[in-house]
Amino acid sequence: MDIIRVEGGHPLEGTVRVSGAKNSALKLMAATLLAPGTTTLTNVPDISDVHVMGKVLKRMGARIEVVDKHTLAIDTSGVDSWEAPYELVAKMRASTAVMGPLLGRFGKAKIAMPGGCNLGARKIDMHILGLEALGVEFDTSHGYIHADASKGLTGTNVTLEFASVGATENLIMAAVRAAGTTVIDNAAREPEIVDLACMLNEMGAQIQGAGTPVVTVEGVNELHPVTHRVVGDRIEAGTFLVAGALVAGPAGVTVTGFSPQHLGMVIRKMEAMGVRIETLPDGSGLTAHRAEHIAPVDIQTLPFPGFPTDMQAQAMTLSALAEGNSIITENIFENRFMFASELVRMGADIHIEGHHAMIHGVRGYSGAPVTSPDLRGGAALVLAGLIAEGTTDVSAIHHIDRGYENFVEKLVGLDACVERTTVPDPDLD
Ligand code: UD1
Repeated sequence: MDIIRVEGGHPLEGTVRVSGAKNSALKLMAATLLAPGTTTLTNVPDISDVHVMGKVLKRMGARIEVVDKHTLAIDTSGVDSWEAPYELVAKMRASTAVMGPLLGRFGKAKIAMPGGCNLGARKIDMHILGLEALGVEFDTSHGYIHADASKGLTGTNVTLEFASVGATENLIMAAVRAAGTTVIDNAAREPEIVDLACMLNEMGAQIQGAGTPVVTVEGVNELHPVTHRVVGDRIEAGTFLVAGALVAGPAGVTVTGFSPQHLGMVIRKMEAMGVRIETLPDGSGLTAHRAEHIAPVDIQTLPFPGFPTDMQAQAMTLSALAEGNSIITENIFENRFMFASELVRMGADIHIEGHHAMIHGVRGYSGAPVTSPDLRGGAALVLAGLIAEGTTDVSAIHHIDRGYENFVEKLVGLDACVERTTVPDPDLD
């Protein structure tokens, strides 16, 4: 059993460069299905979710050349299957991102129904309603969603009930090949959606308004392969900035490889907590300094440009050490407070009431064995370990591997005392 072992109290210093964004890379990989031929993606993070998406595409007949660790050449000319199988969708729900592109190019898709997962129900009803409006017929049987657009896709107006990232992306990827104009109202505005629209436009699509609540897509007859660089990972960047706020030495922790504008609300809330954050003179990154006194804060997660749910656990790690009471409200996912009970095992004082977390600041954490409940919660537990007194062993780190490339190595590069190690699995004794 692999764990991450953290020895707390070692000051962090130096510069870390983040990888390409997981949530962008996965959708860009799916979007390569729309352009027969070889699309090359650079700055792709080497993480397990990307490997799963690679398997999904290969199952369909795509060929993937790993040009180097961060460059994938994906040839989708030979795709002859339209199925995302259960064992891969069950591993990674983002596999459902192939639905839009498959419908756009082939007019059909067969996607395993994503079951419940540890982030709550995570339904895809909005994806389905939107695609139905474009003319897709759906049928479910034997655990699979069968989507059929053999009569063609026709542009229309779709208003999303909620600014869902996945629904916005699937709709854009189907609409690029629909006849006529599709207008998506209440679209999600995340930077990864802008990245997707940029690549599709480079491929010949006509998408306007990505990054605003109204996205207009003019359908085109074909898309061609391109070379595209994945945008930097704002969430990985935010995670390292919180590490700096917790335990940086005098020079602070500098994070590069992403766009600071993508972290607007995170920076605002960290500054409200008393963290000094400086922008590098050339705008290429940020430096976070250790907050000697952490002020309490109220945070609610919201779609971009609101505070990202993917930074909620990391922010909680910081606010649980504040001098006073904080409230964090989780509006996006129903089950994202599981991490809090692990943090309580390290000494935090957190009371969960529905989708609110009442946090009474404590003086410090004490190292403990803890279990990653999910990707961001796992990373946040490692952050807590960095400032905790003693040793913290974080298990179930496959969650962290899903979305953080070389997390341990990058922390060690900042002088953290962290290692990945193998311990006997107690269940096997
Ligand atoms: C994406 C990100 C995830 C991030 C989230 C919100 C990827 C791979 N994942 O997830 O890291 O935390 O955006 O920023 O990009 N919902 C429905 N019906 C739908 C679609 C969504 O009820 O058809 C609900 C979900 O259950 C959830 C909320 O809407 O409660 C937000 O979901 P959505 O924005 O779609 O997130 P994902 O695309 O799944």
